[in-house]
Amino acid sequence: MPDPRKILITSALPYANGSIHLGHLVEYIQTDIWSRFQKLRGHECYYVCADDAHGTPIMLRARAEGIEPEELIERVWQEHTEDFASFAIGFDNYHSTHSAENRVCATTIYERNRDAGHIVRRTISQAYDPEAEMFLPDRFIKGTCPRCGAEDQYGDNCEVCGATYSPTELKNPVSVVSGATPVERDSEHLFFKLGNFENVLRDWHKAGHVQAEVANKLNEWFEAGLNDWDISRDAPYFGFEIPDAEGKYFYVWLDAPIGYMASFRHFCDRTGVDFDTFWNADSTAELYHFIGKDIVYFHALFWPAMLHGAGFRKPSGVYAHGFLTVDGAKMSKSRGTFIKARTYLRHLDPEYLRYYFAAKLSSRVDDLDLNLDDFAQRVNSDLVGKVVNIASRCAGFIKKRFDGKLSDALDRPALFDTFVKAGEEIADLYEQREFGRAVREIMALADLANQYIDDKAPWVIAKEEGRDTELHAVCSQGINLFRVLIGYLKPILPRMAEQSEAFLNVEPMTWDSQAEPLLNHGINKFKPLMTRVDKDKIAAMIEDSKEDLAAEAKATTQAAAGSPLAKDPIAATIEYDDFAKLDLRVVRIAKAEHVDGADKLLRLTLDLGGETRNVFAGIKSAYKPEDLEGKLTVMVANLAPRKMKFGVSEGMVLAAGPGGKDLFVLNPDDGAQPGMKVK
Ligand code: 2FM
Ligand code: ZN
Repeated sequence: MPDPRKILITSALPYANGSIHLGHLVEYIQTDIWSRFQKLRGHECYYVCADDAHGTPIMLRARAEGIEPEELIERVWQEHTEDFASFAIGFDNYHSTHSAENRVCATTIYERNRDAGHIVRRTISQAYDPEAEMFLPDRFIKGTCPRCGAEDQYGDNCEVCGATYSPTELKNPVSVVSGATPVERDSEHLFFKLGNFENVLRDWHKAGHVQAEVANKLNEWFEAGLNDWDISRDAPYFGFEIPDAEGKYFYVWLDAPIGYMASFRHFCDRTGVDFDTFWNADSTAELYHFIGKDIVYFHALFWPAMLHGAGFRKPSGVYAHGFLTVDGAKMSKSRGTFIKARTYLRHLDPEYLRYYFAAKLSSRVDDLDLNLDDFAQRVNSDLVGKVVNIASRCAGFIKKRFDGKLSDALDRPALFDTFVKAGEEIADLYEQREFGRAVREIMALADLANQYIDDKAPWVIAKEEGRDTELHAVCSQGINLFRVLIGYLKPILPRMAEQSEAFLNVEPMTWDSQAEPLLNHGINKFKPLMTRVDKDKIAAMIEDSKEDLAAEAKATTQAAAGSPLAKDPIAATIEYDDFAKLDLRVVRIAKAEHVDGADKLLRLTLDLGGETRNVFAGIKSAYKPEDLEGKLTVMVANLAPRKMKFGVSEGMVLAAGPGGKDLFVLNPDDGAQPGMKVK
């Protein structure tokens, strides 16, 4: 057995101002499968990641919410870590680029490069917002496209005609931050001399550390020439101040990849693993970065150059993947196909997605399509119809007829051997990140197992006298084949594997632990390991995604410092005539009662000063019924009666507040009288 390899794996760091969505998950699932596979093979493997917490968008987002950036990134870190855990992304460490470790690592890398002559200072002129008193990144300037005249285009490119330009070329430019017209202003910046590393980078690429498609792209970049890279930003900026440049901060993309190193440092400090073994220039450990194809420039040029310039090792591999499309098109907020991790989790099992992505992933940079019909069909037919089915067809007989114990010999040992031998080929495919091909091999084995069970028809044998030994051997064979398959699927389906281990009554499986069959071994009661994908749930998820994002889009545009609007945005504008149709009246709550079976509703009997109405109101979270009686509130008196599950509601009461415990009606001493019109 060769020595275990030392492997450090990373996924790109998600920004700390947005939610994880299915597009992100392609990468985390891909990386997690590879990391779990390496661990199952017995290697010393660590998978680290972090939130990418710096930069202008995060600073402005926090400002819009009226909070400090630290508070924002802490909240998002919680959300991200919960989402990742729900999808069984098994990080060994999940850190933040806004951390003490990252400050140290970034400073070291910067200072070593500076001392080696790879940093220069130069004064440049940039767009400046005189009202917000800050320099503006290209994305924070909008204006008219200089080529096609389209309005409301970003400062770097036009989404209508595809032109790329500099913000100074934009016509009628305005700052997205304040609405002011940007002016040009000079400032000294620090640059990393990427060109100093051309030979190092060319050699590194030739040595096969990047995919073939990426190498082609890199050649184009080499031909175009390697420019100095601006690594500084002026205050105000959320990031690390550059040690020898007051008021200047490291650009977010300088300290983002360093976040890989910092997260690992944090892990080492906590566990005693030796950091240098993985990062020294002469390290024999392996270092892999999984990334999206849009950030190759940073990972295949800047990052290895920075590492080299600072005397650290370079990555063993940078593996780019393509983008996610849903039903053949870019994820769309209006179509509901921009699906957040959380929204998905409200409706569907995360292992469905892990399996589907695995089945479609390869080592190439191709885009990946989540076709929702195919998704349901594939999970149902492969996992439920093939894999789980093997166990469910055999387990009952073992339990009922053989006291839960497997036979002492298999019915067909040669078939079991075929399954075990296939393991090396499947392992090779995992190793090469050809997960789709690995899945096809595994499913071909599942077909063999089902074919075997069909041929043997244990349900027929079971009915015949004197064939118990055969029934026992056939069902034990089925369970053993199932066990090998689960071992192969474990990197993709860790939860199903864990439940299967409980059912099989075995220790956590490794890659090799299925080489010998389980004989004479007691197993536990079989519980369904996965239910079928319900298409209604997919439809509900799409609907849910539409609502989520509509609310969020409004919240971001309307967010003001500390304002409730940030959480509860104002609805679409209505005309005065619409408003005038509302007949609002003060009413006295004559009676308030619980409604059987309703979590949120109370039944209110409202006195309008001569007439009573029965109204169901969702204010149970804020008031006990008895506390409401006698209080006044405002109702929409001319709302058409609505038939609800619990009865007819004849109007709507108004209460003020964000919800939960904080919903307020009027007190009788506020001077209002039942029946009064509200103006
Ligand atoms: O593109 C992004 O989402 C970046 N936050 C990725 C950073 S990866 C690494 F360099 F940190
Ligand atoms: Zn244009």
